[in-house]
Amino acid sequence: MLQLPHLALALLVNSQLHPARVAEHPARRAPSAPQMAASFVPGETCTGEKVVVVGSTGYIGKAVVREAVRRGYPTVAITRSKARAAAEKKFEGATIVEADVCDPSSLAAVFEKGSVDVVVSCLASRSGSKKDSYAIDYQATLNCLEAARAAGARHFVLLSAFCVKSAERQDSYALQFQYAKKAMEEKLREQEDMTYTIVRPTAFFKSVSGQLEVVDGGAPFVYFDLGNGKSATCNPISEPDLAAALIDTIADESRRNAVWNLGGPDDGLSMQQQGDLVAEVLGKPPKTLGVPVVIFDVIVNFLQGAADLFKSEKLEEAAEFARIGRYYAIEDMLTTDPSERYGKTTLREHYERIAVEGQEYDPYTSVFGSKEAVESFKK
Ligand SMILES: NC(=O)c1ccc[n+]([C@@H]2O[C@H](COP(=O)([O-])OP(=O)(O)OC[C@H]3O[C@@H](n4cnc5c(N)ncnc54)[C@H](OP(=O)(O)O)[C@@H]3O)[C@@H](O)[C@H]2O)c1
Repeated sequence: MLQLPHLALALLVNSQLHPARVAEHPARRAPSAPQMAASFVPGETCTGEKVVVVGSTGYIGKAVVREAVRRGYPTVAITRSKARAAAEKKFEGATIVEADVCDPSSLAAVFEKGSVDVVVSCLASRSGSKKDSYAIDYQATLNCLEAARAAGARHFVLLSAFCVKSAERQDSYALQFQYAKKAMEEKLREQEDMTYTIVRPTAFFKSVSGQLEVVDGGAPFVYFDLGNGKSATCNPISEPDLAAALIDTIADESRRNAVWNLGGPDDGLSMQQQGDLVAEVLGKPPKTLGVPVVIFDVIVNFLQGAADLFKSEKLEEAAEFARIGRYYAIEDMLTTDPSERYGKTTLREHYERIAVEGQEYDPYTSVFGSKEAVESFKK
């Protein structure tokens, strides 16, 4: 993979990217909570309820824990490794509890009756494979929902993804993790014990930041050429802004039993525009390389053909990862309705910051998962 940086980038740089708000089940039970309704102030209101975050060690989960604590919520971060979480600065002020989200009995021991009012789930498969997605985005998240119901919790907030719309539309190119998430969303809607909010973000900043260091090293910014000067467009959202939106749904009655498609404050930038912006921020002349998107068809067809021939689960997964790469190369992750744009931080501000401070490496998002990998690309 490292010998083919731009191709790898094609597959991986956006591999985790994952219409107006839809009110659902208006008749559903809507338990009351302190400080709700009229006095709600986005980014500020705190109902004081007990919040539990699952998937707390992830990119968004950590930000959610920090935001919940900042607002004044008594916050529990569930993690599969207490020792690892204890070293995490963003958990300051939260109670760290170890539990296995894949094991209902482990969760039952943690979700004691009356111990939780609100659950925020930021659980997500680390790989995006079918098996992992159904194990985590569906089953483990469902385990948390059942544990929350048994504990008498009031509200469940689910971090989902804008692209789940493809599974809803049954697009021929819809992805397995989108179906897993859709199945989980359906379970949430079916139950009536708790209210819920499904938040479907467009794209995270980490998903559109992976090329900054290589561009800084002199390489071109790679984008996928859809023809006629087009490339996929998105308005990504920062992790603190998304965390604030997720926490807002605890007190904001207008978000109850609803899906909230959510992007950041930008108007939307195509991949080419992102490349130009990165160059501008770094003070370099714009240098982009358009890769015809048809390359993905070749890769997907080859891998799927080999998977079918050899009946190989590994090759099947590889084909799915290639489909994920193709999906984000083609599909816009863009919200335009003002009610679906949230937060303050623009992509330019984000690039300006990471150009100075560097960025947290995420081995699950891009090939640039470590400083060593970045250095090898620069050579
Ligand atoms: N990336 C994007 O641009 C984008 C855009 C829109 C929506 N989304 C959606 O956002 C989600 C990804 O969010 P993220 O980037 O914050 O996720 P992430 O960083 O990958 O974090 C995933 C969380 O799930 C936990 N987890 C995964 N497998 C587990 C297992 N087997 N047992 C226990 N815990 C497990 C992880 O725990 P450990 O730390 O212990 O592994 C971690 O806390 C996905 O659902 C994606 O579809 C992403």
